[in-house]
Amino acid sequence: MCGIVGYVGPRVATPLLIDGLKRLEYRGYDSAGVAVMNGKGVDTRRAPGKIVKLEAMLNAEPLVGTLGIAHTRWATHGAPTELNAHPHTSTDKSIAVVHNGIIENATALKARLEASGYVFTSETDTEVLAHLIQEMYTGKLEDAVIRALEHVEGTYGIAVICSKEPDKIVAARKGSPLLIGLGENEYFVASDASAILSYTREVVYLDDGDLAVLDRNGYKILDMSATQLDKAVSRIDWDLGQIERGGYAHFMLKEIFEQPTTIENTMRGRLLPEDGTSKLGGLNLTDEELLFFDNIVITACGTSWHSALIGEHMFEELARIPVEVEYASEFRYRNPIVDERTLCIVMSQSGETADTLAAMREAKRRGARTLGIVNQVGSTIAREADGGIYIHAGPEIGVASTKAFTSQVVALALLTLKVGRLRDLSIMNGRRIVEALQALPGQIQSILDRADEIEQLAEEFKRAQNFLYLGRGYNFPAALEGALKLKEISYIHAEGYPAAEMKHGPIALIDEMMPVVCIAPHDSVFDKIVSNVQEVKARKGKVIAITSQAEPSLVGKIDYEFRIPQTIEMLSPILASVPLQLLAYYIAVKRGSNVDQPRNLAKSVTVE
Ligand code: F6R
Repeated sequence: MCGIVGYVGPRVATPLLIDGLKRLEYRGYDSAGVAVMNGKGVDTRRAPGKIVKLEAMLNAEPLVGTLGIAHTRWATHGAPTELNAHPHTSTDKSIAVVHNGIIENATALKARLEASGYVFTSETDTEVLAHLIQEMYTGKLEDAVIRALEHVEGTYGIAVICSKEPDKIVAARKGSPLLIGLGENEYFVASDASAILSYTREVVYLDDGDLAVLDRNGYKILDMSATQLDKAVSRIDWDLGQIERGGYAHFMLKEIFEQPTTIENTMRGRLLPEDGTSKLGGLNLTDEELLFFDNIVITACGTSWHSALIGEHMFEELARIPVEVEYASEFRYRNPIVDERTLCIVMSQSGETADTLAAMREAKRRGARTLGIVNQVGSTIAREADGGIYIHAGPEIGVASTKAFTSQVVALALLTLKVGRLRDLSIMNGRRIVEALQALPGQIQSILDRADEIEQLAEEFKRAQNFLYLGRGYNFPAALEGALKLKEISYIHAEGYPAAEMKHGPIALIDEMMPVVCIAPHDSVFDKIVSNVQEVKARKGKVIAITSQAEPSLVGKIDYEFRIPQTIEMLSPILASVPLQLLAYYIAVKRGSNVDQPRNLAKSVTVE
C-alpha cells in the first residue's frame, strides 16, 4: 500500500528514485511523484496513473539534484489525480512530504490550519502534515517534524525535506513500515527493502516512534523526545533476481511456478523424518511451554486467513487442540476470550497488514503468547511477535498471493506436526506426514508441467460472468482461495462455498451459464461431494472437477476434469490450489487484465 523512497548522496537522485518507485509499484499504482532539492528549493513533479507517466513528465521537464523523496500512491483520501499525488508541499513551498498511512484527525487539523491562513490544494490527509511542519519550523527540520507529529492521530511512514536545510531528509514511522538503507556515502529511506536493493543490502528497520535524520555525512535515529537511539544494522539476504520477472510474463506466473522451490525452502532443515516431527527454531517456546496452551487463536486477513482455516483443521484433527480462526479486523474490535493459556498465531505474508498487526497487539495485551507466521523478514509482525516461523517463500511481488499461501499451509503443517507429536500424534502418523510433505515439491511440479491443460480450460470459461467454487473439509478453504484469486485478477464474480451448504441458498444461482469448480480429491469426504456434484449437474451447471484419481462415481456427472496427485488429506488443499491459481491467472490474462497490478488492490494493506 503506497511506496516511499528517498535518497541523499553524491549521485543524481531522480533516476534512483524512479528505479525505487518502479520496484514499489506493486504496492500502489494510481499516481506517483518526486520532489528534489534543485539548488534553489524544492522542485516537484507528480502524475496520475502508472510510474511511466511520471517518467515521461520527468523526461520533458527533468528534476536535477542529489537529494529527493518519491512516492507511489494507493488512494485513500481523494481521487488519484495529480493534485492528490504525493509529495505534498507546504503553503510557503519550503517543505515537501511523502506519506503512507492515514491521518485520522486530518479534518480538524485542516480546519485549524486553514483558519491560520495555510492554503490547501488537495483533498488528501497528507497535505496537513506539510503545513503543520511549516508551522512548527524554527530552524531544525527534525524538531519541527517531532512537534508536528505530536498533534497527529493515525498512522504514518513519512519522509520530509525542507529547502532551508537542503542536505537533510527526515523520516518517521508509526504503524507504517520504513527502513533506512546505508550505502557508500549515500543514504536511502524506503517503505520496502526492494526499492533500494540495487544499491545496498545494509538496512536499519525503524520501529514505531522512531525518527531518522539522513544527511550527506551519515544518519541518526531519534525517539520522539529527540534522544538518539542505537539501532542494529540488518543485512538483506535475498537477491535482486528474486524481485525480477526472470522471463515470465508476470510476477504472478513466476511465483506460481516457483512453488516447488518455495515449499522446499519452507521445509528446509525443519523435518525430522525419524521422529516423525519437525524442528522450528524460532518459536521461542520450550516443549513444556507448547503443552501449556489450552487453545489456539489464528488471526489473519484475506488469503492468509484462508491458510489459517486449513491450519484449524490440522491442529484440531492431529494435535487435538481447540482452534478459532478470526479475521484480524474483527478480532481487534471484539472482546475475544484470550488469555495467557492461548497461543495466538498471526499469519501474514507481508508482516505489515495493519489489522493483523493490531490484532496481534490486542492478543498480547490480553496475555496471549504470539507466534508470527510471516514471509517478509524483519517486518513489524515478525519483530513484535514473541516467536515465529518464517515461511521463506522469497519476495512476493504479484499482488495476488500464491506462493506465500502454499508456504503458509506448509508452515502450519510443520507446527501441527510439532504440537501433535507432543500431544496425541503417533510416531507412525508423524512419519506419514513427513513423507507426504517431502513429496509435495515434485507433486506440484507435475501439476505445473500440465499448465497448458488449465490454459485450455481458461479459454473455455474466459467469458463467464460468475463462478462457484465448492469444497469440503480441508478443501473448503481451498474453494474460498480459488474464488478469491479469480475475482481479484479477472474481476469475475466468484464465491467459495462448503459444497453441502450450496443447497441452502447458492443453488438458486445455478444454470447452464454457471461454471462450478468442485474440489474433489479422493479423501474422507469424497462420496459426500459426489452428491453435491450431482445437485449441480441436475441444474445444468458446468462442473469442473479437481480430482486425484479415476472416479467411476463421477462418470457422466462432470464436464471437465483436472487430476492432481494423491496426497494425505491435510495437504490436499496445497495441491488443489495450484490449478486454481493457474485457472485464475490464465482467465485474467485472456480477459486482458493487468494481472500483477489488478485494479483497486495493493500489496500489503497498511491502513485499517
Ligand atoms: C490475496 C491477498 C490478500 C492478502 C491480505 C493479507 O491474494 O494477497 O488477501 O492475503 O491482504 O496480507 P498479508 O498476508 O500480507 O497480511
